[in-house]
Amino acid sequence: MPHRPNIRLATFGSYPTPLEELQALSKIVGGPRIWVKRDDLTGVAMGGSKTRALNTLLGDALSNGADTIVTCGPVTSNHIRITAACANRLGLEALLVIKHPYGESLDEQGHQGNMLLNHVLGARLEYVSADSLSDLELAMEGVAETLRSEGKKPYVIPGGGCSPMGALGYLELVAELARQSNQYGFKIDAILCASGSGCIQSGLILGNAYHHTAYPVIGVTINRSIGELAARISREVRNAAVLAGFDLRVQSGDICILDNYLGEGYAIPTEAAMSAIKLLAQQEGLLLDPCYTGKAMAGVLDLAKTRFTSGQNIVFIHTGGLPGMFNYSKELSRL
Ligand SMILES: Cc1ncc(COP(=O)(O)O)c(C=O)c1O
Repeated sequence: MPHRPNIRLATFGSYPTPLEELQALSKIVGGPRIWVKRDDLTGVAMGGSKTRALNTLLGDALSNGADTIVTCGPVTSNHIRITAACANRLGLEALLVIKHPYGESLDEQGHQGNMLLNHVLGARLEYVSADSLSDLELAMEGVAETLRSEGKKPYVIPGGGCSPMGALGYLELVAELARQSNQYGFKIDAILCASGSGCIQSGLILGNAYHHTAYPVIGVTINRSIGELAARISREVRNAAVLAGFDLRVQSGDICILDNYLGEGYAIPTEAAMSAIKLLAQQEGLLLDPCYTGKAMAGVLDLAKTRFTSGQNIVFIHTGGLPGMFNYSKELSRL
């Protein structure tokens, strides 16, 4: 095994998160046993997998003497909410650069879901009207430059926390899955998760190599095309491995991404996601959101029926994102 990267860690969240079997669901769907890794229970300000990436990212920020954390995302971003919460725990200021169609502050009505929590967490909010992620990241760099000119020490985290340092935060997720599946006596035939910036999926691929587990990892894209996301993941995996002190190259074509659950685009609910949300809530008491986990679960349900068979085990990573449910009260109230 490569040596453990000598990286400072912050300590956010409670681990291991539970691994639970969705017995009622498995019975309804037929075929494989379906498990859920409850990363929605990591525990910081309503939780989510992103907490893991913030352990490495904010550990690195502390090593660099940062006093302000700058990151960016859309109003539906869970990453920015968890960043604000973790920064508060360390006594660092959080400045969130938020994509907004008109580059304006939100009114009270707009304070819902994650944006409401960002407000309660007391993060500084800058709204920009960016057309693309690169525009948003450019705006974030501008904000960081202003902070530097004021004598501050900003630490800039890319959207979604997607960076080699962020990906290293997920190494332990794979180790937890290995220990828990051994304990419950089953072999993991696939891991599925929502994939946006690609950081979680990169971390899972990296974790597989790091822990010699080789679990097939399937990402359900919630915004990017397969080609764009695979190229990002391939790059992040290679660079994160370098940080961890080993060599790992994964060709884009070997990265498994499904794009048939995305629908019309990011944050636009699909019928399949909405029925997955209803099914999981009403059969398992498990809550999912329309933007991320609902779409990923639609993929799990399909694959459980078409690609996996009885005797196999698939693990769905519940990556969190539950505050996002409240952005969809109209749609969800029709379920
Ligand atoms: C709840 C949730 N699930 C999954 C993802 C996708 O993670 P990543 O951006 O690391 O691909 C996100 C990220 O934005 C998220 O908030």
